[in-house]
Amino acid sequence: MNTPGTLPELDVHLTEADADAALREDARRGLTSTPKVLRPQWLYDARGSELFEEITAQPEYYPFAAEREALTIGADEIARLSGADTFVELGSGSSTKSTLLLDALSRTGTLRHYVPVDVSAAALEEAVPGLVANYPDLAVHGVVGDFIADLRSVPKVGRRLVVLLGGTVGNFEPDDRRRFLAALADTLDEGEHFLVGTDLVKDEETLVAAYDDAAGVTATFELNALTVLNRVLGADFDVDGFSYVAAWVPQASRIEMRLRARRDMTVSVPALDLIVEFAEGEEMRTEISTKFTREGIAGELDAAGFDVAHWLTDPAGRFGLTLARRR
Ligand code: AVJ
Repeated sequence: MNTPGTLPELDVHLTEADADAALREDARRGLTSTPKVLRPQWLYDARGSELFEEITAQPEYYPFAAEREALTIGADEIARLSGADTFVELGSGSSTKSTLLLDALSRTGTLRHYVPVDVSAAALEEAVPGLVANYPDLAVHGVVGDFIADLRSVPKVGRRLVVLLGGTVGNFEPDDRRRFLAALADTLDEGEHFLVGTDLVKDEETLVAAYDDAAGVTATFELNALTVLNRVLGADFDVDGFSYVAAWVPQASRIEMRLRARRDMTVSVPALDLIVEFAEGEEMRTEISTKFTREGIAGELDAAGFDVAHWLTDPAGRFGLTLARRR
């Protein structure tokens, strides 16, 4: 029986100290590079996670609802085609869409194991017990790990369906995405499946609005990265000294989220023993959100060693789900 409030099994492949050290090194690299860049990980402290939940409720931020619609339509077919007895969810953190797939896989009668993987132990401990309380026969095996850096944290149990939802794969730079997909293919056995959610290319106005909502929630979310740097690294960013910009970059088929310095600023980052200069108008990237086409994601999956087993979108064709089968 899975009782709410407990997570029977939790493998920790990544301690908080490991995660901290990696993030610090990354901040050093990003703040000293041209142009300056941060990892999206800086966005998701407790406040950032709350703000992201708020983003998903903004009328302009369609990917969340669109993916849910697609999953509602496709979950049974995905479950059937995958024939999975193990459901591995990458970045499961606070995912509320897992139940659609858990239900569908339960209906096919094959599901035995649920393996939520997240960098945050706290997120797993908070979200997973409530989620699995409804599936008393399911063996739950949580994994705290950085699935981007270390796919070995994905345990080898049963016939697996690995899912990466939310369009998170769009957060990667192309090289990182290629490496990630290749590593995932390497981890899986022939006949195992990978389900990936991708936001799709559409008109610029819709895309930019989704990442720059009128209520300013996304701006607050992106600016929160500076507050996190101040707290974690003792930095003295003046958050009001920056404005938020969401830019569509067609050559890279992505939205870039950037913080723009309103004036010249000197920021000190004691934990990195670093002084960082910003010129007025200079932009620092906090996130990218790549937009795909059906052929584009299929081609990338093919190059990594997958065949496309199923493709679907929400009825309006805004967001795609690709079920890929390891060859
Ligand atoms: C969580 C990466 C899927 O790119 O749509 C949304 C992040 N940032 N609004 C996305 C995000 C600002 C989101 N992902």
